[in-house]
Amino acid sequence: MNHYPPLRFDYSGVLRPEFGLSESQIEAALSELDAYRREMLTTDLELFGRGTDIPAEKVPLDAGFIDLPDRLLDEYRTVRSTSELRSILVAAKRIQDSFDRVVILGIGGSYMGARAILESCCDPFYNELPCGERGGRPKIYFAGNNVDNDHTQGLLHLLRSTTISGDPHSRWALVVISKSGGTLETAVALRQFMQELKRSFGAEALPDALIPITGASGKLSELAEAIGCRTRFAVPEGVGGRFSIFSAVGLVPAAIMGADIVKLLEGASQMTDHFRREAPAENLVMNYVAVNRLMELRHGCLTRVLSAWSNALESTGFWYDQLLAESLGKQEQGALPLTVVNTRDLHSRAQQHQEGRRDKLMNNLIVDRYRHDSLAVGKIGWNQDGLDAYADLTLPQIMQAAIQGTNQAYAEDRRPSTNLHLPATDEPSLGQFFQMMMLATVLEGRWMRINPYGQPGVEAYKMHMKRFLESQRV
Ligand code: PA5
Repeated sequence: MNHYPPLRFDYSGVLRPEFGLSESQIEAALSELDAYRREMLTTDLELFGRGTDIPAEKVPLDAGFIDLPDRLLDEYRTVRSTSELRSILVAAKRIQDSFDRVVILGIGGSYMGARAILESCCDPFYNELPCGERGGRPKIYFAGNNVDNDHTQGLLHLLRSTTISGDPHSRWALVVISKSGGTLETAVALRQFMQELKRSFGAEALPDALIPITGASGKLSELAEAIGCRTRFAVPEGVGGRFSIFSAVGLVPAAIMGADIVKLLEGASQMTDHFRREAPAENLVMNYVAVNRLMELRHGCLTRVLSAWSNALESTGFWYDQLLAESLGKQEQGALPLTVVNTRDLHSRAQQHQEGRRDKLMNNLIVDRYRHDSLAVGKIGWNQDGLDAYADLTLPQIMQAAIQGTNQAYAEDRRPSTNLHLPATDEPSLGQFFQMMMLATVLEGRWMRINPYGQPGVEAYKMHMKRFLESQRV
């Protein structure tokens, strides 16, 4: 298997006894974490594999994500023609060849991964590019992640006004993702977008144009059966919603938008291997958890700011917000995740981060290599802005100065920061990142003695909302 440039975690910015941690505190935490790593990789995986006799405090045990990338890649290499990955690639090719636009319906874990992959691995103006420059791939829209009237109406209007009756090149498809198959936001949107599909192309278009990704049973699975959907994918058992980015949930949209899903999985698998084998002191996942949790416990850093130094990583940050919040926000515990994009948010949140409450750890997410050549400031024939002195400097150089300057400003005011380096915004790096954060979140949950899987708290609003809706039933 390919070996990709690894992620790097530099936590020297917290190694300051006045406002941070000592090496010995980190060492002690790492040895404690080693026991939880063993538990995750042995007991949890064994119990999960057996599927029965799981102790009550471990239920649900959705440990299937841990070796999912390895399982998919192994299957692809050994029985390629019948493998899940090949089916995904074949389906993606059919969708790319047949449709001009794809609407992806889903919410939470059934939405955020696909959006993160689109923004981090594809062109920043993917939808706006001429079709040829998108490699002939369809434009991508997301819906079903809210019950927002105007957003839904806006997208329906866009689809209607760009559909040319009888023109096969203006056909669009609907990928609907819901593990349970019963999530209200997604189910409501499905009705509305199915209606639009029927209106534009007739009911006979549905079996080809509707692509469900759902559990083995449930309302969506039954609907797919009734319609006779030609292409369907399953969300594997034992892989929770926010841990499902490396299942069809993330991979089908990724393949449609032209991301290299094999490299994505190889990056993830490289991270699993690193987590499994690397000694605690060099283990990225364990170090990340040790530093973040210790800063929370010892220095009250209850807010974990993921400071992404690239526009391409905003949705990746939102994906992480959901992962951390739904997994660890339990039993009155769990740090508050907050994504910022810099340098943009240096002009909105930085004031508070520099001089507000001392309850934050800044985790910088830094891109080491850009996709395009470095763009210089340049000369324009006037120098009223005084920038001629910097004409030869490039955007990556200015970004680097901003990162260093911001970290220094934090350090001078005794505010902690760490740097997590992504070699690039590409599939191998993002594959490593997603898997690193999923492993880290479960490891931290075990250390906190809470169950990182499941989201029982989310049921409360659903119950009350249902009651209000029931009272308006016709
Ligand atoms: O992480 C989770 O499990 C949740 O965020 C779910 O993904 C979300 O509630 C959507 O659920 P479903 O895929 O069943 O529609």
